[in-house]
Amino acid sequence: MGFPKNRMRRLRSSEAMRRLVRQNSLSVDDLVYPLFVRAGEGLKEPIKSMDDCFHFSPDMVAAEAAEVASLGIPALLLFGLPDKKDESGSRAWAEDGVVQDSIRRIKQAVPELLVITDVCLCAYTQSGHCGVVKDGRVDNDSTCELLAKVALSHAQAGADVIAPSDMMDGRVGYIRQCLEENGFYDTAIMSYAAKYASAFYGPFRDAVDSAPQFGDRRGYQMDVSHSDQAMQEIALDIAEGADIVMVKPALCFLDVIRRAKVRFDCPIAAYNVSGEYMMLNTAAKAGLLEKDAAMLEALGSIKRAGADIIITYFAKDAARLLGA
Ligand code: PBG
Repeated sequence: MGFPKNRMRRLRSSEAMRRLVRQNSLSVDDLVYPLFVRAGEGLKEPIKSMDDCFHFSPDMVAAEAAEVASLGIPALLLFGLPDKKDESGSRAWAEDGVVQDSIRRIKQAVPELLVITDVCLCAYTQSGHCGVVKDGRVDNDSTCELLAKVALSHAQAGADVIAPSDMMDGRVGYIRQCLEENGFYDTAIMSYAAKYASAFYGPFRDAVDSAPQFGDRRGYQMDVSHSDQAMQEIALDIAEGADIVMVKPALCFLDVIRRAKVRFDCPIAAYNVSGEYMMLNTAAKAGLLEKDAAMLEALGSIKRAGADIIITYFAKDAARLLGA
C-alpha cells in the first residue's frame, strides 16, 4: 500500500484532470450582494470604510440592481440609512422609508432579482442598539413587535425575503405570525440565527452609522466561544418559521457552518462580513496577496464548510470571475 502505488499527484496532473475531480465548486448561484441605500437624490457615494461599496439614493438603486442581475447574481440584501433616527427607530417601518422606496423601484425595474431586506433597528435608533432601550437594557418583547412591523412594511413594498438580524428571542415567530395574518404567505424568512458579537463588523457600523452609543451588543448577540448554542439558536428559528438560517460571520465560524449543515435540512446561509472583506482587500492593496485568488479561496472555504448561500461584498467581483 501507499507509494509508489498511490501517487496523489496523478489527479493533479493537468487542468482537465483537476476540473474532473474537483469538489465543491463555488457558483454565482450561491451569491447574495449587500447594498446600502440612504435618503437623497442622485447619490452614489463611496463608503469610506468599505472599498468599492457605495451609498445609493433610492432613485439610483435600480440601475445598480440591474447590473447585479446582469452578472447572474440571484439576490440582493438591502440595508437602509434613515433620514432621521429616534428612540424607537420608527423610520424603519415607514411606508415612505428608504428601504421600502428602494424595494418598489428594484422590483419594478428588475422583477426577477430577489430582494432580501435586513430587518433591524440599529441604524434607526438614537441608541444604535438593535432594539428599544428600557431601563438601560434592550427590551426583548417590545422590540419583537416593532421588528414585525418593519418586516410587514418590507413585504408590503414587495420584498421577497425578510432577514432579521437583531438577535431578539422569538422575533422569527412574531414576524412569521404577522406576515401570515396579513396574507404574506409566500414571503420567506432568512434569519440571522447564529449571529455572533463579533469584532469583524467594524467597517459596516461605520457605513450605516449603527455603532451602539453605550455598551455593546453582547447582551443579545452570541458569545464567540459557543457552537452548541448556535445549534440551539438555529433549531429555535426553524421551529418559529425560518426558511433559511444564517451563520455570521463566516470565516471565523466555518466549524459552526459545518455543524449546521450536517444537522439541519434547510438551506444554510453564511455572511462574509465587512471586516473579513476589508482584511482581504487591505492585504491585497498592500501587495501581500493576490486578490482574486485569495477571494475565491476564502469564498470557496465557506462553500466547502457547507454554506448553500454566501452573502458577500465580493459578489460582483466573484461573479465576473465565475461567469454567469
Ligand atoms: C445589523 C447588522 C450588522 C451587520 C449586518 N446587520 C451589524 C451589527 O450587528 O452590529 C454586519 C454586517 C457586516 O459587518 O458586514 N444588526
